[in-house]
Amino acid sequence: MIKKGIILSGGHGTRMSPLTKAVNKQLLPIYDKPLIYYSLSILMMAKIKEILIIVNKGQIDLYKKLLLNGNNLGIKIEYKEQKYPKGLPDAFILGKKFIGKKNVALILGDNFFYGKSLVSKLLKSSKLKKGAEVFLHKVNNPKLFGVAKLNSKKEIIGIKEKPKKKYSNLAITGLYFFDNQVVKLSKSLKPSKRKELEITDLLRKYQLKNQLFSNDIGKKGFWLDAGSMEDYYKTIKFVGSIQKKKKKYIGCLEEIALKNKWISKKHIISSIKFYGNCDYSNYLKKLIN
Ligand code: G1P
Repeated sequence: MIKKGIILSGGHGTRMSPLTKAVNKQLLPIYDKPLIYYSLSILMMAKIKEILIIVNKGQIDLYKKLLLNGNNLGIKIEYKEQKYPKGLPDAFILGKKFIGKKNVALILGDNFFYGKSLVSKLLKSSKLKKGAEVFLHKVNNPKLFGVAKLNSKKEIIGIKEKPKKKYSNLAITGLYFFDNQVVKLSKSLKPSKRKELEITDLLRKYQLKNQLFSNDIGKKGFWLDAGSMEDYYKTIKFVGSIQKKKKKYIGCLEEIALKNKWISKKHIISSIKFYGNCDYSNYLKKLIN
């Protein structure tokens, strides 16, 4: 079982400036919660309890103010600063000590996932022993993402980062499961033309060893990289409408922790005190009554 997960929550969020000039993108609201709640909820649904959040220089205190050390959620959160964005695989170089000899999951703090069968898929991926596993999703704008080509057996036969020409419409979403080779392989990467280490180069190393596996978030699943203004607002609208329709929150961390039996009523009461008088607290009250 993969027990450790990293959330990469750095970056300058330039595509969303001026919103992101003074506030880190992952702390901006998606409907009624900060964006980072949704990626953290995905790791928690995969039953991952040991979490490292990588943030921009000088921003650890902001995150600590919101998530503390994870105690109220029955998880353990550590933080690490990234001096400047060096690409996604840098997460495994910065996280070397945190990872130790274990396997690890990575989720990008600005990615949003929702799907009926997502939890069972996550639990399956978290059983990964060897190799790497990615979650693919069909998109209309593959030029904006890393993409993968599959053969008829759903095996990955090619990967490209932001393809200029038509290659595949299956985006590699920002959720990855890796075995422990990831640290060594990340260190062996060379920066790309955009002067960053590329996750697709790392995945290709696994693919060449026939150790890259694919999963998907389900046909009716919803995935967004909330990195552009348009997608950011799409995500907000999506969360608002689903929550109204289902009368259930998406990304309520305390609810997931309670369901996982990681916390009890007393933790929820302490969270209600922490958040104060707000709709989120009212929702938490309903969970324990
Ligand atoms: C990054 C990865 C890309 C992946 C995307 C998912 O892109 O490089 O492979 O598909 O995240 O959100 P970036 O956000 O750096 O443009």
